[in-house]
Amino acid sequence: MPPSYLPPQAGEGDTRLRGNDDCYTIGAFFNKLLERTMATRRPRNKTTPDLTAEGDVNLTPRRKDWEARHLSAATRELLDEDARYFLHQSLSTPCLNALRSCAGIYLEDHEGRRIMDFHGNSVHQVGYAHPHVIDAVKRQLDVLPFSPRRFTNGTAVQLARKLAELAPGDLSKVLFAPGGTAAIGIALKLARVATGRHKTVSMWDAFHGASLDAISVGGEAAFRRDIGPLLPGTEHVQPCAPRNCHFGCGGTCTARCAEYVEYVLKKEEDVAAVVVETVRSTDVQAPPRKYYETLREACDRHGALLILDEIPICLGRTGKMFAVEHYGIVPDMIVLGKGLGGAVFPMAAVIARAGLDVAADRALGHYTHEKSPLGCAAALATLEVIEQERLLARAETLGAHALLRMKDMQQRQPLIGDVRGIGLLLGIELNHPRSGEPARDEAEQVMYRCLSRGLSFKLGQGNVLTLSPPLIIADEELERALGIIETAIGEVAASL
Ligand SMILES: Cc1ncc(COP(=O)(O)O)c(C=O)c1O
Repeated sequence: MPPSYLPPQAGEGDTRLRGNDDCYTIGAFFNKLLERTMATRRPRNKTTPDLTAEGDVNLTPRRKDWEARHLSAATRELLDEDARYFLHQSLSTPCLNALRSCAGIYLEDHEGRRIMDFHGNSVHQVGYAHPHVIDAVKRQLDVLPFSPRRFTNGTAVQLARKLAELAPGDLSKVLFAPGGTAAIGIALKLARVATGRHKTVSMWDAFHGASLDAISVGGEAAFRRDIGPLLPGTEHVQPCAPRNCHFGCGGTCTARCAEYVEYVLKKEEDVAAVVVETVRSTDVQAPPRKYYETLREACDRHGALLILDEIPICLGRTGKMFAVEHYGIVPDMIVLGKGLGGAVFPMAAVIARAGLDVAADRALGHYTHEKSPLGCAAALATLEVIEQERLLARAETLGAHALLRMKDMQQRQPLIGDVRGIGLLLGIELNHPRSGEPARDEAEQVMYRCLSRGLSFKLGQGNVLTLSPPLIIADEELERALGIIETAIGEVAASL
């Protein structure tokens, strides 16, 4: 019998957050320099909650407390070795725990404890180690494990054809990349070449990857702060987030934020592209149809391309193969990744309108693993699993059921300020019942309590429990997970 996690102790996670000052060791030099040269500048607030936009940070006292309670000496030793050899960074190293295997919806740690993975870095639509995907990769490994760039291979062509068939409208030209960030870079370059313009309009709070070009269009402090000059011409606007709408939509989006994008496009006159996460995955923000209709029309009127980032939510997460299918519009490019590699191989892709095939004399991607037969085999097998196991319908049905269950939970749990979801991308927002302020500290407690009971998920914006279970999850597993969450929320509420 594998040991189970210790049940949460009374007062577990009661340590009050003292701020995230530790996160800034790396940036201290820049801070000092800036402080010296810009003496009049407003001092930074080092506890800015924006740093939790992308996920729970790894240096909080509560994290340390959890580790002290749950890790064996052997695991501690491995984590210390990891911390010794890897560069430290927010959101990863130092790590929380160490894994020895994964299968289906479960991760298994070195003590043999099984953890339902509702995070999975969004790679696990078909679950971990799906036999069909593993077989396809093994077969490919025996025949053609690599394909140098001046050659093509049948598996890559098959995948490109398949994606072109699946993508909406006239999106039919494909370029692969070894990661979502790189694919975003390709899309940005193609937009420049195709329009002869360089400016972009994108969203605050968005994530498009961690490289300098991707963080220039991204809008999260954890990636941008104190990093120095970013790409010029990358304008940002408010994302569609009805509960925090600066246009006064009162919780129900009226697409005023999309109208503002049009205002910016008109004023700037020469924007190359509007870049948006179709559905923002970290805190589950799915705009209404009107939002995308307005954006599409605005882009057309002002000669800007519409680039949709579906890296974490493509291939069934929202109940459709591509999330944009919920909106009845066709973008100029879709960027996908993560689950495309079947939770095995790093794979991403740009799918563009045929008319955007205009850069034959430039290098847009030029990535060493551009047509990786292994990655393409994993992707083709993943698409087959999605079709054969009818995972789109499964995501829609299970997601609808989970959302009802979460609404029901909200009636009983005053800490829950909002629940939302699209397919099997689900969010539970925790707010202080009286003030309505984000309950970030409580959300972190809930997260670690759930982890203690064998359920992993991440926090978005610090107070949204973001749930992305594998689409292959069984009904009773989803029910069990939601039960764990409700118990944890109830316990945290009772301890307030
Ligand atoms: C919306 C979005 N865009 C881009 C990326 C970057 O993808 P990758 O980590 O594969 O480079 C991510 C990764 O989390 C993402 O969530």
